[in-house]
Amino acid sequence: MKETKPQLQNPISQPPAPISILVTGGAGFIGSNFIHYMIKAHPNYIIINLDKLTYAGNLENLKDINRMDAGFKEQDLVGGGFENKIQNLKHQIQYPISDIQQSTRYHFVKGDIANTELVDYIFERFKPNYVVNFAAESHVDRSIENPKIFLETNVIGTQVLLDVAKKHWLASGKWKEGVKFVQISTDEVYGSLGPQGYFTEKTPLDPHSPYSASKAAADLITKAYFDTFDMPINITRCSNNYGPYQFPEKLIPLMINNALHHKKIPVYGDGKQIRDWLYVEDHCRAIDLVMQKGRIGEVYNIGGHNEMENIQIVNKICSILDELYPISKNPTSNMQHPTLKSYKQLISFVADRPGHDRRYGIDATKIHEELGWQPLVDFDEGIKKTVEWYLNNQEWMDRVTSGEYMKYYERMYSWR
Ligand code: NAD
Ligand code: DAU
Repeated sequence: MKETKPQLQNPISQPPAPISILVTGGAGFIGSNFIHYMIKAHPNYIIINLDKLTYAGNLENLKDINRMDAGFKEQDLVGGGFENKIQNLKHQIQYPISDIQQSTRYHFVKGDIANTELVDYIFERFKPNYVVNFAAESHVDRSIENPKIFLETNVIGTQVLLDVAKKHWLASGKWKEGVKFVQISTDEVYGSLGPQGYFTEKTPLDPHSPYSASKAAADLITKAYFDTFDMPINITRCSNNYGPYQFPEKLIPLMINNALHHKKIPVYGDGKQIRDWLYVEDHCRAIDLVMQKGRIGEVYNIGGHNEMENIQIVNKICSILDELYPISKNPTSNMQHPTLKSYKQLISFVADRPGHDRRYGIDATKIHEELGWQPLVDFDEGIKKTVEWYLNNQEWMDRVTSGEYMKYYERMYSWR
């Protein structure tokens, strides 16, 4: 009799079922850090990045990711057969198909979250299990200059995403298993604090800038889809992030860039406004946890109890630069400032931001107690790593500060 060998099953050789995430705004600061984080943390995840590539979106932030491969084929996800659909869509959407770049684990689609047809196409093609909505106009100063685009992207764009997700995830009154919409919001929706107390998830919304008002509106429309349709959603509200790939219109990279070019370091008002700073990777880890384990319908605050006055931050950056890249070694000629010995001499107090919020401070007890999250990167370590990153990536900085940025800078700072 012939011996039959037992069939060996090696579970390790079976890749886990793919999970696909639609990340919007993935070419921006936090979105690109999130994609880096998720690709490393979850080998069975497929990321679809939908980004309009505004001034703040930069594909260079993701250049090492484009060719990543976990051994999946697109058919594993959806069953293939997209060519006809692509041909039809070619006539309907303004985005050339060549803008849809592919590898097996990471797909980039250039486009607007407010474009219903395009978002619908992405849902049909990639069948995302999750949407993580980072896409936004995100800079307070720009929202003071031109509020309209903030409403178009932050409010209408979010509503379009919610609506298309609902269309694909809800059938015969039942939501698909294992789907969720995560709205990335901000502590700014709570308004401004006095010297005492913290924002909790129960603090009433009281936004002051057109930016924060648009984010509050997006939170409320997201909540409305939960209250009205039982849509599985979470909303996260994080404090100020810092780290690599942040566009240099924001405090920390702007100060580093100006210092390196021996330009004035413009501190608004008295510089004593307080922000609660968190290293971007800690934020990404929190979002991942909320996405997987957050209780449906809940809001989660994210923050590291790391409050600092703006002027303290600016002084710290100057001290780190003085140590890592002293003026004497900086090839930017100090002809304009022959007496310059420390970057601190460039600090200049300028006209304040209208409606400037005085203090933000996050109470992150809920995410800590429910999901076990806490920040891992301490500020002194994080800010040093961040300054080093910008020093090592001066070409990135030079590229993103050419063109439109110079006009913006002129408009925003010449009158101050
Ligand atoms: P960012 O400005 O660096 O990036 C925004 C990204 O969204 C860019 O890639 C841009 O091209 C894209 N985008 C803009 N409009 C779009 C549209 N209509 N369709 C598709 N893509 C579009 O912003 P960020 O600092 O990375 O912030 C990301 C999210 O996190 C935002 O929703 C912001 O409100 C929130 N947030 C930011 C911070 C912070 O400190 N930066 C803190 C808390 C929350
Ligand atoms: O709190 C979270 C928010 O943090 C996010 O929702 C926003 O998207 C993000 O832009 C950020 O908003 P802020 O307004 O707090 O960040 P910004 O970096 O613009 O400013 C930080 C502080 O520094 C603020 O008090 C204004 C001040 N500032 C800023 C700039 C650009 C200056 O003093 N000078 C400057 O040139």
